[in-house]
Amino acid sequence: MDRIKIEQTDITGLKVDAIVNAANKSLLGGGGVDGAIHRAAGPGLLEECKALNGCNTGEAKITGAYKLPSQKVIHTVGPVWNGGNNKEEELLADAYKNSLQLALKDNIETIAFPNISTGVYGFPKEKAARIAIHEVQSFLEKHPEIKSVTFAVFDEENLNIYKELLVLC
Ligand code: APR
Repeated sequence: MDRIKIEQTDITGLKVDAIVNAANKSLLGGGGVDGAIHRAAGPGLLEECKALNGCNTGEAKITGAYKLPSQKVIHTVGPVWNGGNNKEEELLADAYKNSLQLALKDNIETIAFPNISTGVYGFPKEKAARIAIHEVQSFLEKHPEIKSVTFAVFDEENLNIYKELLVLC
């Protein structure tokens, strides 16, 4: 499906309608991609996030993008990997689904995802990639309004996993 792209890049530089942030439940910033997005967006992003009263795991909330080149930031909270018996796979799928639902509602046509939960939250990368690709593909089949989804991978391991899985699709 040529509406799905892979780019090994810092997501904060992407000129898409919306970038997705792998946030924590407080939505008050953190390390990893969350830290990078807040640093690049500037203090206005945190101000807006403060008014959102957090976000549950698997859910998503949308804000402006401030100094980022994108128009919006969709903040979602992936699950912490805890062995796989605490609905982690379902919650990760929800994080992708709910981010895409929000994008659709906001007339967003191009969106970029980081590899949610595969950093600090320790989700196995291949399992996470399979879930991400499955959710994005099924959503795009139902919603032609979304023109493109970019997986903004950051490390070599994720790059190779996504390349391999997307060739098979
Ligand atoms: N652009 C794209 N991807 C990035 C960037 C970046 N600038 N920085 C990090 N990444 C990648 C990581 O390499 C990893 O593959 O994003 C993926 C997600 O890793 P984390 O940012 O650690 O996110 P996650 O595993 O979901 O953990 C979320 O970490 O930063 C805190 O506040 C955040 O508590 C939350 C937790």
